Amino acid sequence: MKPTFYVTTPIYYVNDVPHIGHAYTTLAADVLARYKRLKGFDVFFLTGTDEHGQKVEKAANTAGETPLELADRVMKRFQSLWEKLGISNTDFIRTTQERHKKGAASMFEKVMQQGDIYLGEYEDWYCTPCETFWTETQLIDYKCPDCNRPTEKLKEESYFFRMSKYQEQLLAHIEANPDFIQPKSRRNEILSFVKEGLRDLSVSRTTFQWGIPVPGNEKHVIYVWFDALTNYLTALGYPAEGGDVAKFWPVDVQLIGKDILRFHTVYWPTFLMAAGLPIPKKVFAHGWWTVEGQKMSKSLQNVVEPNMLIEKYGVDAVRYFLLREVPFGLDGDFSHAALVNRINSDLANDLGNLLNRSTAMLGKYFGGVLEAPAEETALDAALREKTVDMVQQVNQQLEELAFSKALQSIWEVISAGNKYIDETAPWTLAKDPALKGRLGTVMYYMLESQRVVHSLLSAFMPKTAEKALGYLGVTEAPDEKSLCWGGLKPGTAIARAEALFPRIEEKGE
Ligand code: MSP
Repeated sequence: MKPTFYVTTPIYYVNDVPHIGHAYTTLAADVLARYKRLKGFDVFFLTGTDEHGQKVEKAANTAGETPLELADRVMKRFQSLWEKLGISNTDFIRTTQERHKKGAASMFEKVMQQGDIYLGEYEDWYCTPCETFWTETQLIDYKCPDCNRPTEKLKEESYFFRMSKYQEQLLAHIEANPDFIQPKSRRNEILSFVKEGLRDLSVSRTTFQWGIPVPGNEKHVIYVWFDALTNYLTALGYPAEGGDVAKFWPVDVQLIGKDILRFHTVYWPTFLMAAGLPIPKKVFAHGWWTVEGQKMSKSLQNVVEPNMLIEKYGVDAVRYFLLREVPFGLDGDFSHAALVNRINSDLANDLGNLLNRSTAMLGKYFGGVLEAPAEETALDAALREKTVDMVQQVNQQLEELAFSKALQSIWEVISAGNKYIDETAPWTLAKDPALKGRLGTVMYYMLESQRVVHSLLSAFMPKTAEKALGYLGVTEAPDEKSLCWGGLKPGTAIARAEALFPRIEEKGE
């Protein structure tokens, strides 16, 4: 049986249209999913939309639609962007689907039946954009300490989850599992938050309707974060505990932005403890993108729209840029100039040129047919070893979700390939018929290294890799064996590659 791998993105609110922040998390999850499939894993990759809550209800009212009409319309925009971006998700969950509503209500009921959800009364300050309650002391000038927007005082009958009961168990779990919350700085943040003490959490609302009714008390709807977090299980078929739940739970990696860390590493694990289910193996919080130095916001009208970027620069350039430019976990800045620079130097010059010049040489010297390599020299061995080492390094780096470092490791081999050509100088070897065997060996090493590079790159830039592998005469989708040296067969006909990435001459906008 294949080993399994389960990766999730947050489910996106439908009151906002997709931007590069959303694309970023989904893309990172896609690279992991593709890489694990390449390595022979049975992968479940989940994304979806978060469609309940006051925020969505308010947005629908403003737009003159029902919340479901709004959700139907906006979720399509997410789905079509994921298609354009080459996202290979296994499933797309919507919290308005029956399968989800049933599973979320069932988990709520289970926790209630065992006494960890009780009825009480709530009086506190609520931030609607964040869907979060705050105590008066937590507010800054009566504004939300997270987003600095106004809060409103709410008093309502509410169900509470006994989160306080799980404080010690959660602390012990975080301490015993150093990989659970990453990166380390985020883990420390959560450790000190939990040590300050956990309050019981309000998990229902009576002031609006748009949500899943509390089982047995339809005056209440389930708190949108309780509802949303359970998607990671309902998509697997929960409350049924066999099938995909047995196969894929606990989830291997949950990718989130740093703003929703507490929900995923305090609320979610304590809900799961109460429901008697295992805790996710890893939650990784990435940083936030600013745009040309400024916070991305509707009011500043600087939201970067991924569809437009894909149309202008191509899908793989966008995929490459987002994961290469900024170390995963840190904040980063998006600028057109930086994107154009990466396309021209990394993609057109380094990657594209190498394939173009080497396939052209094979055409010129051997009519495009690969020779068997003869004796290996020190220069050849160095390129082979560097290529083989890269495969191990990238494996480790992706284990750590260090996407940018993984791409750097791949680019070191691309640079080494360009240097290898300069050092072996095939154009000089070609002048002496007695060196034909040596020339054939150089051609083999130069192209074989790129075959391995593009097999790995298929996780990051699937379309480009497919095209490049096609030029190299590889027709099958890469698998784990493709990452081993020696895959190119002598006698293979290799076509001259056209530019994988045309240079962009204008300066960008
Ligand atoms: N619906 C909740 C998540 C529920 S998961 C059970 C939510 N949705 S969201 O649409 O507001 O945000 C989804 C993700 O997008 C978050 O991980 C957030 O960090 C990410 N981003 C939103 N803006 C971003 C940037 N400017 N940069 C990077 N990521 C950003 O929260």
